[in-house]
Amino acid sequence: MKGPRFSLRTKLVLSTLLIITLLGVLSLFFGFRLIRDTLVSQAQAKVRHDLSSAWMVFNERLNTIRDVVRMTAARESLRDLVQTRQVDILLRYLARVRSENGLDTLTLHDQHGRVLLRTRSPQNSGDDESGDAFVRLGLDRKVVAAPQILPREELLKEGERLAAQAYMDYIPTPRAAPHAESRETAGMMLKAVAPILDEDGRVLGILTGGILLNRNYDIVDRVKGIVFRDERYRGRETGTATIFQNDLRISTNVRNEHGERAVGTLLMAEVKTAVLDEGRPWVDRAFVVNDWYITAYEPIRDIDNRIVGILYVGTLERPYIDAANRVVRTFTLAAVLCVGLLLVILSFSTARIVRPLQKMVVATREIARGDLSHKVEVNSRDEIGTLADSFNRMTDHLREANEKLLDWGKTLERKVEDRTQELRQVQSHLIQSEKLASIGKLAAGIAHEINNPLAGVLIYSHLLLEDTPAGHAHQENLKKIVRETTRCKDIVKGLLDFARPKEPQAAPTDVHDLLDRCLSFTERQALFQNIRVERAYALDLPRIVADGGQLQQVFMNIIFNAAEAMEGSGTLTLRTAADATRGGISVEIIDTGHGIRDEDKKRLFEPFFTTKDVGCGTGLGLAISYGIIQKHGGTIEVRSEVGRGTTFTIRLPQEGRSS
Ligand SMILES: Nc1ncnc2c1ncn2[C@@H]1O[C@H](COP(=O)(O)OP(=O)(O)OP(=O)(O)O)[C@@H](O)[C@H]1O
Ligand SMILES: [Mg+2]
Repeated sequence: MKGPRFSLRTKLVLSTLLIITLLGVLSLFFGFRLIRDTLVSQAQAKVRHDLSSAWMVFNERLNTIRDVVRMTAARESLRDLVQTRQVDILLRYLARVRSENGLDTLTLHDQHGRVLLRTRSPQNSGDDESGDAFVRLGLDRKVVAAPQILPREELLKEGERLAAQAYMDYIPTPRAAPHAESRETAGMMLKAVAPILDEDGRVLGILTGGILLNRNYDIVDRVKGIVFRDERYRGRETGTATIFQNDLRISTNVRNEHGERAVGTLLMAEVKTAVLDEGRPWVDRAFVVNDWYITAYEPIRDIDNRIVGILYVGTLERPYIDAANRVVRTFTLAAVLCVGLLLVILSFSTARIVRPLQKMVVATREIARGDLSHKVEVNSRDEIGTLADSFNRMTDHLREANEKLLDWGKTLERKVEDRTQELRQVQSHLIQSEKLASIGKLAAGIAHEINNPLAGVLIYSHLLLEDTPAGHAHQENLKKIVRETTRCKDIVKGLLDFARPKEPQAAPTDVHDLLDRCLSFTERQALFQNIRVERAYALDLPRIVADGGQLQQVFMNIIFNAAEAMEGSGTLTLRTAADATRGGISVEIIDTGHGIRDEDKKRLFEPFFTTKDVGCGTGLGLAISYGIIQKHGGTIEVRSEVGRGTTFTIRLPQEGRSS
C-alpha cells in the first residue's frame, strides 16, 4: 500500500521542520531547566549570604543587651547601692537604664540568686532564681548573652503584658507539621547576665536583662532593611526574615493574605524535620505561609546549646521563575521566528531543487502521452542537470528509433500491399491459365476426334453436291450440310488454336500497320457502315518484336466484339501509346457500346463464354486473344460501364518473351 500522497517538496520541508522543531523543543526544555536552576542557585547563594547578615543583626542585638547588662553591672554606683540595699534608688536607676536601652526586663539578684528587684514589676521580687542557668553563670562571675525560652509563669512574674505579648494561638498553616497543642504560652528572650562584684571581686549580686522576641519586629525588620531594603514584586515584599520559637513564627515580616504579619503560623514540615530535629541548616526552596520562597534556615540555640528556634531569611521564588519564564518566552518567540524564517528559506530552496524534477515529471507525462519531441529545460549543473541531459538524450534516441520504426512500418505496409497485389495477379493468372489449360486439353481431345469424321462429312457432302443436278430437290439441303459442316470445322479449328496455340513467330512489327490492316478489312463489312472510326495513334510509337499475324487476330476479334456491342452505330477509337516506364507499347480499343455487366467481366476470358445467340459466337475469341497476349509477355485488361462503352487495353513489351 502506498502512503499518503505528499509532494517531494512538502516531504523535504516537513522533515527538516520536524527535526528543527524537535531540537528546538528539547533545547527549550533543557534551556528552561538550566536557566531556572542557575537563577535559583544564584538566589540560594544570595539567601545564604543574607542569612549571615541576619545572624549579624541578631548577634549584634544580643551583644548590645549583654553590653548594657555588663556595663550597668560594672557601675560603681550600682555596686554601692546594692551593698547598701537602697532599693528605691536602685529601682529608679535601673528602670531608667531599662527604658533607655529598650529592654523588656532588667532584674537584680542578690549573691544567692534571689531576686532583689524586678524593674518591670517590682512588686514581684524576692523569689529564688538560683536554679536558672543564667543566674548560675552570673553567680559564677560569667558575662553571657543567649536566647532563652521562658515559660508563661516566668513571664507572668514580669507582668501580664509580657505574658500576653508571648501568647499565641497556632494558626493553621498549609504544609506545616501537625501540633497536639493549639497555642504557645512560653516566650523567647534574648537574655544577658553579668555579675556585680565588690572591690575584692566578690559577688554582690547579678544583673540580668533581656528583650522578648515574640511580636518584637526590631530584628527582622532591620534584617529586611539591610538585606532586602524595600524590594517589591507585583506589590509584594520579596525579602522576608523570621524568628521562630521552635516551629512557631513569633517575629516575622512575612505577610498573610490580609497583609498582616504572619505571627502564629507554623514552619513547613520538611524544614522542621531538617532544622529542628536534625539541627541541619536548610538552604532550598520552601513553602512559607502561602507561597514558595527561596529560603535559608538555621537553628537558634540556647545557652545549653539546645535548639530553641530558627532564624530564617527568604526571598519570593516567583520573580526568579517569572524571569526564567520570560527568558524562555523570548527564546521561544525567537525560535518560532527562526522556524518561520527557515520555512520561507526552505520553501524557496526546495522549490529550486524540486522545480527541475517537476519539469521532468511533466516531460515524462508528455512522453508517455506520445510527444517524444518534449524537452526538459534544466540549466543547473548538479546531478539533476545531468539527469535532465541524459533524459533529453534518451528521448532523442527514442524519437529517432520511433521514427525509423514508423518508416519501416510504412515501407513494410507498402511492400506487403505490392506483394499482395502481385500475388493476387499471379493467382488470378494461374487460375485463368489452369482453367484454360484444362478446358484446352478437353477441347483439343474432342476437336481431334471430331476433326477427321468432320473432314469426311465435308468431302462427301461436297461430292454429293457436285453430283446433284441443279434444281434438284436435295441441292438446298446439301448446301446447308456443307455450310453447317464448314462452321463446325471452323469451330474445331478455333478450339485447336485455343488448345494448342502456336508459338508466336516474332519479328519487328509496326502495330499501326496491323491496326490499319484490320480497319481496311472492316470497311467492307455491313456491320461497320455506321460506325465512326477514330485513330488516336502515338507519333513516336516504337516497333515491337511480335507475331504480327497473331496480334492481328487479337485486334480483329476485339474490334468485331466492339462493333457488335455498338450494334452497328457508334464511335470506335483506337489509341496507341509508348509505355515509357516499361519500355513497350499500349493499345486501347474503345467503343461506345452497351458495356459489360460486372458479373460477366469475371468470365470474359473463359472459353465458350458468350452472350451472343447460338450460332452467332463461339465465345472463344477473347480466350484465344488472352493466350496470344500472354505468350507475348503482355497483358490484357478491360474497363467497362454498362450503357456507356468498353475499353480494352493491351500492353505489350518491346520484345516479347518468346522472341
Ligand atoms: N466490346 C464489347 N462490348 C460488350 N460485350 C463484349 C465486348 N467484347 C466482348 N464482349 C462480350 O464478351 C463475350 C465473349 O466474347 P468473345 O469474343 O470471346 O466471344 P464471341 O464474340 O461471343 O464469339 P466469337 O468471338 O467466338 O465469335 C461476348 O459474347 C460479349 O458478350
Ligand atoms: Mg468475338
